[in-house]
Amino acid sequence: MIRTVATTPYTDQKPGTSGLRKKVPVFQQPNYAENFIQSVFDSLEGFAGKTLVVGGDGRFYNREVIQKVIAMAVANGFGRVVVGQGGILSTPAASNLIRKRKAFGGLILSASHNPGGPHEDFGIKYNAENGGPAPEKMTDAIYARSKVISAYRIADIGAVDLDKTGTFEVGGMKVEVVDPVTDYAELMETLFDFDALRALFKSGFRMRFDAMHAVTGPYAKEILERRLGAAEGTARNFVPLEDFGGHHPDPNLVHAKHLYDEMMGPDAPDFGAASDGDGDRNLIIGRGIFITPSDSLAMLAANAHLAPGYKAGLKGIARSMPTSGAADRVAEKLGIGMYETPTGWKFFGNLLDAGMATICGEESAGTGSDHVREKDGLWAVLLWLNILAVRGESAKDIVAKHWATYGQNYYSRHDYEEVETDKANALVDALRGKLASLPGTSVQGMKIASADDFAYNDPVDGSVSRNQGIRVLFEGGSRVVFRLSGTGTSGATLRVYIERYEPDPARHGQDTQAALADLIKAADDIAGIRSHTGRDKPSVIT
Ligand code: G1P
Ligand code: ZN
Repeated sequence: MIRTVATTPYTDQKPGTSGLRKKVPVFQQPNYAENFIQSVFDSLEGFAGKTLVVGGDGRFYNREVIQKVIAMAVANGFGRVVVGQGGILSTPAASNLIRKRKAFGGLILSASHNPGGPHEDFGIKYNAENGGPAPEKMTDAIYARSKVISAYRIADIGAVDLDKTGTFEVGGMKVEVVDPVTDYAELMETLFDFDALRALFKSGFRMRFDAMHAVTGPYAKEILERRLGAAEGTARNFVPLEDFGGHHPDPNLVHAKHLYDEMMGPDAPDFGAASDGDGDRNLIIGRGIFITPSDSLAMLAANAHLAPGYKAGLKGIARSMPTSGAADRVAEKLGIGMYETPTGWKFFGNLLDAGMATICGEESAGTGSDHVREKDGLWAVLLWLNILAVRGESAKDIVAKHWATYGQNYYSRHDYEEVETDKANALVDALRGKLASLPGTSVQGMKIASADDFAYNDPVDGSVSRNQGIRVLFEGGSRVVFRLSGTGTSGATLRVYIERYEPDPARHGQDTQAALADLIKAADDIAGIRSHTGRDKPSVIT
């Protein structure tokens, strides 16, 4: 039986950088999830009889929302729902399924690297038929709809069994429960030289992959250990838990410090990696060397042709504005296009669809290619492995040679988390107010060349996105960028991105914070971080 249920709008269902993210208790309010899901469906046209993909990272409340999605998909007239077994699909695997099944779109349930549990974070994101996050035009429409919604439709079908694979009929609609790993692993086999990787592991190459008790566990077990023959135990923390074992499933130097310490230790494996809650981020650490995501993007782009899926070369590279300029130098050398987009994967979709870019990346540990329309943690790991297998060199040597060729972009991000919202806004407003007067002035002995609030003109559809981060550029190419996070669920997070280019190989490989010390001071002088926030140091440095 299909019911139309009267509801009243919530006013806070505005999707952020990556879908709607809230604390679990917010999502558990009466009709909260239903309102948002119906607002998504109401903003779409022509899905009758079509396929919807749904799955999530397995965090607390995942299964409940999947049941709601299925019951509402029946009531709204979808023809089929494809769902990952146990409700599990990594974000890149969901993107792949949407594309492979020619689905109308998909709902991905995740709050990415944010913690999970009854009092932690949850999220819902709509991805369109290209497999990528809904563009701003669509998320604006969803938000507008959520503010006036008065009813949603749902079918009384009882709980669907998510744990057995197979296809069955529910209320006149097909539900297909699929193994979450199979299609994704097949896709990886088309991109990388699995024989070369098997030979690498057979030769004694040792690796550590930390799934952080999140979604990539089953993917890493299957691909690294079963298909590629890496030693059992290569994948750690591989059982997805609803609360990620109480940790932040965030693969950075703070939350994956144990991996970093192991990789810097005397008996370090050859290669270390980790991924986040929903499997789209990556952390790459070679024996004795951490590779920043911005550097990793540049190095993957420079070497991608060594993997079968990219042997024809790259069409172009795209990076988010705050990501370092290391990849720009690679694009220049390769003679291919370089695109600078606002933060958030949704901005890469048009470039990938139009065949203008092949590889994309963000400083926030996201890298991916045109094989899906999301960033992809395991993909980045496999591409690194493929490059290591072909070059037969250590990650550390590859990095040193890369810097010697292109120069090193020293880079760090300083986050000030849970700042009171009005204080953070006051800081940004004050900064905006003085942008015009900054050029020509000097801070910490460095002259400011230009300062602006980044606006993006999408070269494919002509859309313009304004206020995407304040950047202050110094003479000589150093810069600091300031923006407020669009993914947090409490207070505001100020992100400060700091970058300095060093061409001289004699000065490569120094301590990053020391190499950036003058710029770090300059950032505070310019934005008044201490005085506005009352904080004397960042909460997280990556
Ligand atoms: C953060 C990252 C951004 C990434 C997003 C989703 O967004 O900075 O690069 O795309 O998470 O993973 P932010 O919180 O900065 O808005
Ligand atoms: Zn993520």
